[in-house]
Amino acid sequence: MEPLIEEILTLKEQTGATILAHTYQAPEIFHGVADLTGDSLALAQAAASVPGELILVCGVHFMAESVKLLAPQKTVLIPDPAAGCSLADAITPEDVRRLRERHPGVPVVCYVNTSAAVKAECDACCTSANAVSVVESMGSDEVVFVPDRYLGAHVAAQTAVRLHLWHGSCEVHERFTASQARDIRIRHRARLLAHPECPPEVLAEADFVGSTSAMSAWIRDHQPPRVALITECTMADNLRVLHPQIEFVQPCQLCPHMQRITLPTIARALRERRHEVEIDPAIASRARAALERMLAAGRDRGG
Ligand code: 13P
Ligand code: SF4
Repeated sequence: MEPLIEEILTLKEQTGATILAHTYQAPEIFHGVADLTGDSLALAQAAASVPGELILVCGVHFMAESVKLLAPQKTVLIPDPAAGCSLADAITPEDVRRLRERHPGVPVVCYVNTSAAVKAECDACCTSANAVSVVESMGSDEVVFVPDRYLGAHVAAQTAVRLHLWHGSCEVHERFTASQARDIRIRHRARLLAHPECPPEVLAEADFVGSTSAMSAWIRDHQPPRVALITECTMADNLRVLHPQIEFVQPCQLCPHMQRITLPTIARALRERRHEVEIDPAIASRARAALERMLAAGRDRGG
């Protein structure tokens, strides 16, 4: 991998590009070429303050769209535009409009794992790191929450706000089972950390539930001897490098969309300045407003 990593580092210098990488990106990307890494909230927050006019996003398409929405004057590239997400595919703008008709006057919050066109139909976005505070910031007794039914159920359990849920799910996290989680705990005597996109019976087995960054912070602060991450398994590969003294045991589920981003596709994207993320101006300002409302809710609560 070294020649490709060297080529990418040289291309970064020549083009002035900044590389943002999600926690589920392979270690050679996460540790080898990224300038900034984190969960989807951290990547969205970084967008506006990144230096230079060229950003390359190593993550899935909705993440690159969020960066473009929050840094509209910059050129944003994604190495493979086919890197999608089963949650983003689970709901359309028409679905949101129909939900509004069914729940008149009720605010709509969407998980960032949605297309820009869906965001444009919503009042505010959230990530798994700030979903409860965004829902509560809407100032309503009821909120329509889309598209992840499992994240929605997890949020509903932590707030008095009544949530109307949609039926989307993550094709990676929905594969974990409670018996698998129990088995790992007993056989390996491991602490279990789970992402809130997992089904509720899996979350019930976990010692800690949180976004990818929250799980990383928990490990940094608690330093357990053995841990199982009930989430996309590349994350454990990245953390293992940072915490060699901790043993990571895990059931491995890979996100096929995240895996589309590779060193060769990154090098080609920088060489050929492709694939540029473009957002229809007719939806961009409304989608941006939904993302900005999320960021403002975090600031209001000191998050
Ligand atoms: P985070 O917001 O925790 O990074 O999660 C994004 C995601 O797609 C998890 O599957
Ligand atoms: Fe989407 Fe699931 Fe992949 Fe995350 S892990 S990008 S929610 S398909």
